[in-house]
Amino acid sequence: MSIQTLIEQATIPSESGSVSSSPFDVDSFDAAVMSTYGRFPLALERGAGCRVWDTQGREYLDFVAGIATCTLGHAHPAMVEAVTRQIQKLHHVSNLYYIPEQGELAKWIIQHSCADRVFFCNSGAEANEAAIKLARKYAHTVLDIEKPIILTANASFHGRTLATITATAQPKYQKHFDPLVPGFHYVNYNDISAVEAAISELDEGDYRVAAILIEPLQGEGGVRPGDVAYFQKLRQICDETGVLLIFDEVQVGMGRSGKLWGYEHLGVEPDIFTSAKGLGGGIPIGAMMSKKFCDVFQPGEHASTFGGNPFVCGVALAVCQTLERENILQNVEARGEQLRNGLKAIAAKYPNYIAEVRGWGLINGLELQADIQLTAADIVNAAIKEGVLLVPAGPKVVRFVPPLIVTEAEIDTALAAVEEAIATFTK
Ligand SMILES: Cc1ncc(COP(=O)(O)O)c(C=O)c1O
Repeated sequence: MSIQTLIEQATIPSESGSVSSSPFDVDSFDAAVMSTYGRFPLALERGAGCRVWDTQGREYLDFVAGIATCTLGHAHPAMVEAVTRQIQKLHHVSNLYYIPEQGELAKWIIQHSCADRVFFCNSGAEANEAAIKLARKYAHTVLDIEKPIILTANASFHGRTLATITATAQPKYQKHFDPLVPGFHYVNYNDISAVEAAISELDEGDYRVAAILIEPLQGEGGVRPGDVAYFQKLRQICDETGVLLIFDEVQVGMGRSGKLWGYEHLGVEPDIFTSAKGLGGGIPIGAMMSKKFCDVFQPGEHASTFGGNPFVCGVALAVCQTLERENILQNVEARGEQLRNGLKAIAAKYPNYIAEVRGWGLINGLELQADIQLTAADIVNAAIKEGVLLVPAGPKVVRFVPPLIVTEAEIDTALAAVEEAIATFTK
């Protein structure tokens, strides 16, 4: 059975499914919106579960989920209920007042992680900015470091603000934006001797390493899981030296890895960690969590107008509670294994094209062979034609990050589409 037939046979609620009468006007869009994104030729206007529809009424299986963001897929009843309830009750007030929903969400996170306290903001980059600021203040006021340095890993991704592109050790994100923010130094991922060397070499005069900011699994850098022995040694080094260990859980956290937090795969706890993306299931929210180092910021030292408002916190709390109530982590593990096994079977059929399949839970990457012309974007474009949305993670890795509610049948559909897409290049 072809992918298209499978998709057409699926029963989807369609009450809100008005299809635009005229084709989407790409030219007027491009004339009005800045060209910061390389867009695929699709205009999406509706979603339900793991499916989305374009303005022509064509249906796609969404294995992008807003790039690892739509935890509960599209139009999930728990989110619809929470959005409706919260907008009718109270959507925004200043952090100059106590916000009950913010307190409830913070308590949920604390009960389900190693965190002692939470700061709320609007995005992953902002959460990392907060962590960087906290680390710097801690370095100045507690560690007595005049010029603190933060180590980050090559091929990392931490956001698009000036500090977070500096933390992001990938020149393509930094080009033309210098002068960058001082105080960062890069080391190879999963290489403990590089960290040890940096800590001793950078201990000179006023300079000293104050923190390490690192992803438990590198997402944008090609879906590269952290090595357990490396992370355990990192923890040990940080304990011995007082260097803060900060985990960027923006992409891998909130259940995507099959555990609630990526660090649970590594058997270590961070001093600080950040979250965004999946936390609100698509509602813009970011958070920085701290274990122990909770009193570093004093009133007035860090803030955000929208951060942690009643609307986003009410909805994010509904996402968190649904994740727990519906045992979604079990689904992530089972569907992740099904997806990885299926991708490995495809890789075994096309060894000249596919180098490796790797990932945790429902964040997986299929790496193409380096010595062939085929790129991840080629596969993504071919998969679109098969009715499945995928996203590159770098030039050679195709990333699979569906909603965490994805079903067994939907994984089978996506696997069949991926195989079709690859087959178009191997004929
Ligand atoms: C690991 C990681 N950190 C930070 C960010 C930045 O998050 P945002 O786009 O919400 O600022 C991303 C986004 O892809 C990410 O994957």
